[in-house]
Amino acid sequence: MRDKQAYLQADAEHLSPALNRAFDIVAKKASGSFIYDMDDTAYLDMTSGIAVNQVGHAHPEVAQAVAEQAANCIHTSCVVHYPANIELAEKLASLMPGDISNTFFCNSGAESVDGAIKLIKILQPGRNNFIVHRGSFHGRTLGATSLTTSKAAYRKFYDPLVPGVHVVDFPNSYAAKTASERKAIEESMHENLEKMFATSVAPESVAAILIEPVLGEGGYIPAPFEYVNYLKHLREVCDKYGILLAFDEVQSGFMRTGKWFASEHYGVVPDIQLMAKGLSGGVPLGAFSSRKELMYKMPPGSHGSTWGGNPIACKASLKLIEIIERDNIQANVHARSEQIFNFFESKYPGSNTMKLTEDYKDTPVKVRGFGLMIGLEFKSAEFAQKVKQHALENNVLLLGCGTYGTVIRLAPDLTISEENTQRALDVIYEGVEKNYVSNN
Ligand SMILES: Cc1ncc(COP(=O)(O)O)c(C=O)c1O
Repeated sequence: MRDKQAYLQADAEHLSPALNRAFDIVAKKASGSFIYDMDDTAYLDMTSGIAVNQVGHAHPEVAQAVAEQAANCIHTSCVVHYPANIELAEKLASLMPGDISNTFFCNSGAESVDGAIKLIKILQPGRNNFIVHRGSFHGRTLGATSLTTSKAAYRKFYDPLVPGVHVVDFPNSYAAKTASERKAIEESMHENLEKMFATSVAPESVAAILIEPVLGEGGYIPAPFEYVNYLKHLREVCDKYGILLAFDEVQSGFMRTGKWFASEHYGVVPDIQLMAKGLSGGVPLGAFSSRKELMYKMPPGSHGSTWGGNPIACKASLKLIEIIERDNIQANVHARSEQIFNFFESKYPGSNTMKLTEDYKDTPVKVRGFGLMIGLEFKSAEFAQKVKQHALENNVLLLGCGTYGTVIRLAPDLTISEENTQRALDVIYEGVEKNYVSNN
């Protein structure tokens, strides 16, 4: 095998630079919460492959399920039916909110978004507009890019994109300094859509409203729920005007937030549910789902996929769900989440912005999120970058997010131990203390 430098050189020669790599690590192996570099350094991975490896890298039971399925049948495409595909769709129907029970499988998050756009177009003839939320990330296909506003850089070069997309602000009430300020922000969001309907797009022309219940790339920001349940508000608006409500849970789904889907924190059922990432233990799989009567409006042949819902990905997903249920992974998500919030609160009282108070404290870092989808907000991108760099030097991998690069996201595997969580927290704390000067 070549050495690390030789691989990096060949990478630069033969792989497109368009795909940004966060670290110059060449993984020779990954297991549990760790990635092992070719130079034998073990890195504690607080990214889990961008919120994908819910039960850790290369979980032995997922690996075995993949191997067994590969030995049995790797691929047939839609030439025939196959059991894992049917069993997974059936299982998802029991996990998804409300009466969402029918699924189309694809290979990625962006494909699930594109498929959902097609479904919506079929369901809403004559309504050519979509409403999305500023700061959202929905993927890299042209359809999904058209709906994405987390960074202008993702859209640059590609105009004109799909027309009819209107952007409303994602109400970031976590930016508020006090409880009363947050209340004011949350209450004012009632006006946002009404203003849009009055000024730029008639509600009768809107096919769907799309939202990530917890903004992912846009900064790990939960939709407001303290004073106004924003998802409930959207549900009411959609019901009033005959608009479909779609939740993109590609990043927030599959127990990431301590529930199968983040929408459960809000008690709101969408019309269309999007999934990928954590759905299948690291094997590519995406899906969009809805009520059977809506999915049945998509005529045979109106959408398709060669690989979508292939036997290996479905088998991996079924095994993943079995492990999550059997091992009560939910309890670990809650415990580790509490550990993280308590740690920061003990070091920086007032840092937990999920708690409402009038007694605002100007802390070096602000913490928010559900489960193991936690955002650490810093005052500048430079400060966040220094904390990430310190972590890297101490063999802990942290990813950033947020339009302005001011957020570090904590999205480890959902099975991470108390000890490894503590190790990451200690390293982050050192990085914050080392680099904090009051004006950053
Ligand atoms: C909320 C959300 N939707 C869609 C996508 C696109 O997923 P994929 O990269 O699998 O196409 C992502 C990816 O980060 C995402 O976070």
